[in-house]
Amino acid sequence: MSDKKIALVTGANKGIGYEIAAGLGALGWSVGVGARDQARRDTAVARLRDAGVDAFGVPLDVTDDRSVAAAADLIAERAGRLDALVNNAAITGGGQQQPSSVDPAVIRTVVETNVIGVIRVTNAMLPLLTRSASPRIVNMSSGVGSLTRQSGPDGDTTTGPVAVAYAPSKSFLNAVTLQYARELADTRILINCACPGFVATDLNGFRGVRTPQEGAATAIRLATLPDGGPTGGFFEDAGVVPW
Ligand SMILES: NC(=O)c1ccc[n+]([C@@H]2O[C@H](COP(=O)([O-])OP(=O)(O)OC[C@H]3O[C@@H](n4cnc5c(N)ncnc54)[C@H](OP(=O)(O)O)[C@@H]3O)[C@@H](O)[C@H]2O)c1
Repeated sequence: MSDKKIALVTGANKGIGYEIAAGLGALGWSVGVGARDQARRDTAVARLRDAGVDAFGVPLDVTDDRSVAAAADLIAERAGRLDALVNNAAITGGGQQQPSSVDPAVIRTVVETNVIGVIRVTNAMLPLLTRSASPRIVNMSSGVGSLTRQSGPDGDTTTGPVAVAYAPSKSFLNAVTLQYARELADTRILINCACPGFVATDLNGFRGVRTPQEGAATAIRLATLPDGGPTGGFFEDAGVVPW
């Protein structure tokens, strides 16, 4: 088994996930680029390798049981363990998301990716994570999932427009993360949520004001927490995000 730390980043072919992979790679980690599309995955792996990162492709659709099981098998064969899992892949569900007019199918699709996808991937990777000396799980959440911010006086400014599929999917993810933290409290695994800020990516039509590199910083910090670091928390660059 190699001493080199190994990470899996889901949705790492572009945006913040790509920069998390690049950042962990720059720290000397071997990074699995989880991506569902072969061409996009191959391009990202090639770019990362050109930048000196020890990157390898991991075919991965977080909504597909067989794909996720195959991804765990690939990492088991390659490294025999996993030191950090970054559950980054997500979708917004796009378009109009007023509660009174939303198509319930949109909610189902968003939750399937943003919440159940995280649970599916995490559970498949837990046996590999338990073989690490210092396992870390980072769930990419969003400040828009903060119920405190949504209900505060500046809700529209801090959490954006009403989005009944996307925003509650991140609140759900936060709640799920806490359940894992409680279950895993007596293990070496630290599991936390990260908010990247408002980042210019495909997710928001590049309207964000931060760079994907800036957005990756908190997730990288949480993926590389020292032993004894926080677990069951929700963090952004400035510190703790209120639930
Ligand atoms: N951008 C922001 O301002 C912002 C703010 C708060 C939180 N976040 C969170 O940060 C994370 C990254 O977002 P981003 O802005 O970098 O978005 P992005 O550029 O749209 O990237 C999303 C990634 O997720 C992948 N993905 C989606 N569904 C998938 C599936 N079923 N299986 C595997 N991969 C899948 C996409 O792959 P394809 O290329 O194949 O579609 C893509 O690689 C997300 O969790 C997002 O909610 C972003």
